Amino acid sequence: MRSHDWFKRGGLHGFIYRSWVYNGGLTRESLDGRPVIGIANSWSELTPCNRNLRQLADLVKQGVIEAGGLPLEFPVMSLGETLMRPTAMMFRNLSAMAIEETIRANPMDAVVLLTGCDKTTPAAMMGAASAGLPSILLSAGPMTKSFHNGAPISVTQMWKFSEERRAGRMSDEEFAEIELKLNASEGHCPIMGTASTMASLVEILGLSLPGNAAAPATSAERRRLAVETGKAAVLAARSDEGIASYCDRRSLQNAIVLLSALGGSTNAVIHLIAFARRIGIQLTVDDFDKLSDAVPNLANIEPSGHFAMEDYYRAGGTSVVINELIKGSLVDGTSRNFLGHSLSSLYASSGTPDQKVIFSVDQPYKNTKSIAVVRGNLAPMGAIVKVSAASKELLEHEGPAYVFDNVDVMRRAMADPNFDVPDDTVLVLRNCGPKGYPGMAEVANMPLPKKVLERGVRDMVRVSDARMSGSAFGTVVLHVSPEASSGGPLSLVETGDRIRLSLHSRSIDLLVDEAILDKRRAELQSFSSDRSVGGYRELYAQFVNEAADGADFSFLVHQRPVSLPLDNH
Ligand code: FES
Repeated sequence: MRSHDWFKRGGLHGFIYRSWVYNGGLTRESLDGRPVIGIANSWSELTPCNRNLRQLADLVKQGVIEAGGLPLEFPVMSLGETLMRPTAMMFRNLSAMAIEETIRANPMDAVVLLTGCDKTTPAAMMGAASAGLPSILLSAGPMTKSFHNGAPISVTQMWKFSEERRAGRMSDEEFAEIELKLNASEGHCPIMGTASTMASLVEILGLSLPGNAAAPATSAERRRLAVETGKAAVLAARSDEGIASYCDRRSLQNAIVLLSALGGSTNAVIHLIAFARRIGIQLTVDDFDKLSDAVPNLANIEPSGHFAMEDYYRAGGTSVVINELIKGSLVDGTSRNFLGHSLSSLYASSGTPDQKVIFSVDQPYKNTKSIAVVRGNLAPMGAIVKVSAASKELLEHEGPAYVFDNVDVMRRAMADPNFDVPDDTVLVLRNCGPKGYPGMAEVANMPLPKKVLERGVRDMVRVSDARMSGSAFGTVVLHVSPEASSGGPLSLVETGDRIRLSLHSRSIDLLVDEAILDKRRAELQSFSSDRSVGGYRELYAQFVNEAADGADFSFLVHQRPVSLPLDNH
């Protein structure tokens, strides 16, 4: 046990390591050599989606103790999607770095990662992957359903309610009433947004126990899962296998297939690429396009479908989907989890699709491809289109660009009731990528001009180097790489230029002569300015990779040895 190098030491070193830990009331038996399980808790009152992790941590501890281990909980930087500015994404790498180094610096033999809100999960996955200790993840679980006028409502409809209000079809009073009702319980967003998508992906990657994704935050099953996770962590500590020892390219391919079958969040593309590269696997955006080609959509869940995570849970959740994908030979069931068990053995008795919320491979919910990658002179490194959330008729489209240089300019224009553009316009929002925003805001699904909405138009092609919330919808070409702030071609577009999107040919092109683009490029360079601001923001801007490369820091893209640090006294 790695922890023995601290707690089983003789002399003054051992005295110091043990004596200070005893101040919590631990007995000598607690430090008799049993596995020490760290519990990395992203609980925070500033992260409402992770609010129940305080209670879940106690249940994980119960499981660790029942299995003969010693639990030691520690706080990690929490990333609340709704409150953090400029974006929670800007801090994903910082949190990952803190988790990695806290694990490495301390006497633990395995770690349980408690996460929930969107970025807390990939941060924990990336940090734990680089640290190399046995690691198990437990999610907060989704909120229960909320209702308005007797009908279920969710975060997905929030965008639609906002558009209805702007179009004058919903009163301010009703909008305020929904604000109070929307988030009905503890837990993360109750749709297949980024949090639920990532919670599903950790299941198929083998990083969590089966059932992690769907059990509601407030359910007895979520609490039992916490106890079982604690017990499993003790077993994992004895097996001493870090993520890289079982999570391989097969596992990541399985995760891409699941992402596609769920119609999951586009944010997962960035997070999976970053995670894979932490364990030495060169995943690319093209893997997502290729592997999702033959995968039907099996889950009728918002935002791509109609139901909530609570309905999905009752239908069997991600376990049923994984089992169905294994049976349909779309997922490799020989992939292993953190205890060395194959996916086939873990999910064989997961039940069958109800053909209402979860569908079979033979009779899928939709045959629509979930995520596609487009390239062209506007996005040489690629850009993402969430096909399942787009309007089919706009996926082959050519129109004039209207360019917003940044999000403030865009918001001001959209707030102006007289702002108008032709209906076939391609709205372009730039300087919102990893470096540009900074932190790659979820603003790619920009609202439509009020005038356009009043004419009954509900979707337009939008192109941006930003991300889009997992709960958002629309024909949005996002994650354009390289980003405008790195000098990518998006920085060369001018209002009135024509842009052509073709899903069929997987292309996004700016229809402007190369000679004109070269001239614009030369002029642009003369305006480049020093963006140094100091602190973490400067570190971020200096080292963050393009979205197509996972937006990780260039100096973190690897696993680092979990070797024991030197004594500190
Ligand atoms: Fe936290 Fe949606 S805002 S999961």
